[in-house]
Amino acid sequence: MTTTEATYKGVPLTHGRTKEMIDVIIEKRDTMKTTEIAKLVGFDSFRPVNAICRLLNTANGTTPKKVKRIKEAKNTFSNYHGTGKSKARQLIADSIMSTKRRHSNVLTLPADTWIMEKNILKQKSGYKFTAVERDKETYQQMVKNLITNNLLFDSVIGTANKSIGEHIVNDGEDTYSSAILDYCGFIDSFYDEINDFMKRNLVRKGGYIAITLAENDRAINNSLFGNGHTNNYIQNCYVENEEVSGAKVTNDLVNFLVHNNAGYKIVTKFKYRDKKANMLLFIIKRVDE
Ligand SMILES: C[S@@+](CC[C@H](N)C(=O)[O-])C[C@H]1O[C@@H](n2cnc3c(N)ncnc32)[C@H](O)[C@@H]1O
Repeated sequence: MTTTEATYKGVPLTHGRTKEMIDVIIEKRDTMKTTEIAKLVGFDSFRPVNAICRLLNTANGTTPKKVKRIKEAKNTFSNYHGTGKSKARQLIADSIMSTKRRHSNVLTLPADTWIMEKNILKQKSGYKFTAVERDKETYQQMVKNLITNNLLFDSVIGTANKSIGEHIVNDGEDTYSSAILDYCGFIDSFYDEINDFMKRNLVRKGGYIAITLAENDRAINNSLFGNGHTNNYIQNCYVENEEVSGAKVTNDLVNFLVHNNAGYKIVTKFKYRDKKANMLLFIIKRVDE
């Protein structure tokens, strides 16, 4: 008589999963990125790896939270004064300015210049910010520029030389009134951080999460474009007359984040190009109904 073992360490051996694959994921998951592990075990994307990690956590009754130190990452941003960037900043400012100032706490990545925050305060003062920067030199310059500007100094309630992921690790639901995640890098590096942020509802109802990313035009084969999920997907993830292509990975992954985390809706998508890279701004609202 032959028996088939249907699960291994709590993970169903379906979708091409093997015991060896699961052992590799267990061994590497604290030290390697999920995208790297996906390549190692032969998956096309990091999502099946995430799914296995979640099953492993459930089986162990744990939620390991090893936040990788990524402070060493350098700030390579240079498009401070592009016209597209200025328009994107204004769209973000408009959404922040539609929220209440009283008791506000906007999580933000000002870099050294604080252009976004100064722009908001110039139009409507009274907002409070928590500023995070992972690159040490940029952080030091950011603090220098903060203490020499009275309006900013009165408006900033916290600064941290950390990654967003490290900074939010112990934050509770509704900690922030909004978040300006002006990353400007590729979503692959930030997907887990954003997912964690949304899943834990760190922004209050009625608040916004603005995310700026560089477009990565790797095509993605997303089953959500198929029949089953379209209503909810389209209702919450598509904006009227959107120019952003649904077949591109950046747009698709942000749609996916919103689709998978209940209570959010994308209200603005804006595509711009000042230098070589196409940039995408997404403004997501935590809906208050
Ligand atoms: C595009 S710049 C911010 C630009 C600024 N908001 C503006 O309007 O000019 C992004 C900054 O955030 C930092 N950064 C990027 N990803 C980060 C992360 N995950 N955690 C903390 N800092 C990050 C970068 O080092 C950089 O200084």
